[in-house]
Amino acid sequence: MEPSLPSTAPPLRRIADLPSPRGWPLVGHLFQLPRDSVHRGVERWCRELGPLFRFRAGARTLVVVADHDAIAALLRDRPEGFLRSSQLKAVGREMGLTPGLFGAEGEVWRRQRRMVMAGLDPNRVREYFPALQRVTRHLHERWRRAAADGRALDLQAELMRYTVDTVAGLAFGAEVDTLRSDDDVIQRHLDKIFPALFRRVMSPLPYWRWLRLPADRALEHSVAEVNRAIAGFIAQARARLAADPARRERPPNLLEAMIVAADRPDSGIDDLQVAGNVLTMLLAGEDTTAHTLAWALHLLHRHPAAMQRAVAEARALGDTIDALTPEALGRLDHIEACLYETMRLKPVAPFIVLEAARDTRIADLQVPAGTLVWCAMRRDSLEAGCFDRPHEFDPGRWLDERGAGAGKRISMPFGAGPRTCPGRYLALTEMKMVLAMLLGRFEIDEVSAPGGAEAEERMALTMVPVGLRMRLRERGR
Ligand code: HEM
Repeated sequence: MEPSLPSTAPPLRRIADLPSPRGWPLVGHLFQLPRDSVHRGVERWCRELGPLFRFRAGARTLVVVADHDAIAALLRDRPEGFLRSSQLKAVGREMGLTPGLFGAEGEVWRRQRRMVMAGLDPNRVREYFPALQRVTRHLHERWRRAAADGRALDLQAELMRYTVDTVAGLAFGAEVDTLRSDDDVIQRHLDKIFPALFRRVMSPLPYWRWLRLPADRALEHSVAEVNRAIAGFIAQARARLAADPARRERPPNLLEAMIVAADRPDSGIDDLQVAGNVLTMLLAGEDTTAHTLAWALHLLHRHPAAMQRAVAEARALGDTIDALTPEALGRLDHIEACLYETMRLKPVAPFIVLEAARDTRIADLQVPAGTLVWCAMRRDSLEAGCFDRPHEFDPGRWLDERGAGAGKRISMPFGAGPRTCPGRYLALTEMKMVLAMLLGRFEIDEVSAPGGAEAEERMALTMVPVGLRMRLRERGR
């Protein structure tokens, strides 16, 4: 319901009253926004048109909101006021992706959210440390071999193996071990899903319904492989619970906790929701963390003073992976500041699209139910009124508590409100663990994009740095 206004208030604006970039008949602004850099196109319009405007993609009009306070208000008004985009959910279902927490709404979302939060809260993540250290040891061994061979590493692919192994180990109690295997690993199939989902959401025509290209057939194969792997994780978890019923009292991982909940009569959780959340954790936990780490390494390599300080902080923790305890990682203040500064400049989710669940308003704008709202998350992060020298990489701005608090409210790298990222503590822990291991044990000769320039940003549901390669030497060699 629309809130009532005092009679003296000026009338509300309608979406049609908003400024808009110049478009073309029928297609609107669709072809002015290349898919790979759609976030940059919208950010450019923000500079020209201000923090509230509209654009048209085919038949649909989107309202762009770029002011961080207005965005935070929308993100907080969930799940009642705003939903995730129904198109994203429909395309996901059509691809055969079982929905989980990310796409759930209403009461189903509430039940799943409680369960997932419990599985990823800081105390649980501390219990997972031995598993996290084991995966980090595998990454260390892999990178030692590459350093000894003088081989350049494809940074994204390496880091995505790490994040998949971590999520599978921690959240599902499963050893997928992509770091020690070069077979047809699940990560290769997962890697196809986000870019395909994004391609289809952005496609003006659902061509795949009439014409299946080789890429569509490869995608079907990948989705089937991922679903098969998920069925395997669930079967293994059920077998562990059957062999040791005491695990039901205190399930040691998120998957077993979900199964125990689903088995309770009237839990409202069914097997499909369990499978959907296994997939959601794999997808939401893989690219986001791996790409943020890749951006951080790239930025650190380009800023030697910040890098030197990060190296000193990592080396002060000692030189074994056993030394990377929760307390030790808690001392990595500068490294944590580098991560927040990376997420300000290179947020892997530079926009969030919401859909109004009911008639509502944004500032003085009337917003009918069903309106799509594009939250441009990075605009204020790059505004001089919000951050000093906003285009500079300056981790120091995150080192005093007040600055960090205010900065997080503006850049919101993990979103905001009731649907804020439940994996944020795990993600920060993983990223600090990898940086401490890497900077502590290796010298980094190169983290470069093709041509030696700053890496290009490519949107593929998350924002990927293009073509980063890393070359390492083992310390003391
Ligand atoms: C650097 C790493 C990460 C970043 C930057 C990130 C960012 C985000 C953002 C921006 C959202 C949307 C929040 C909103 O709508 O307000 C989100 C949601 C979510 N994230 Fe993350 N994420 C990261 C890592 C992870 C990890 C490691 C996991 C789990 C293993 C995870 C699981 C999820 C889930 C399940 C949601 C949906 C929550 C809901 O709808 O209630 N994320 N994340």
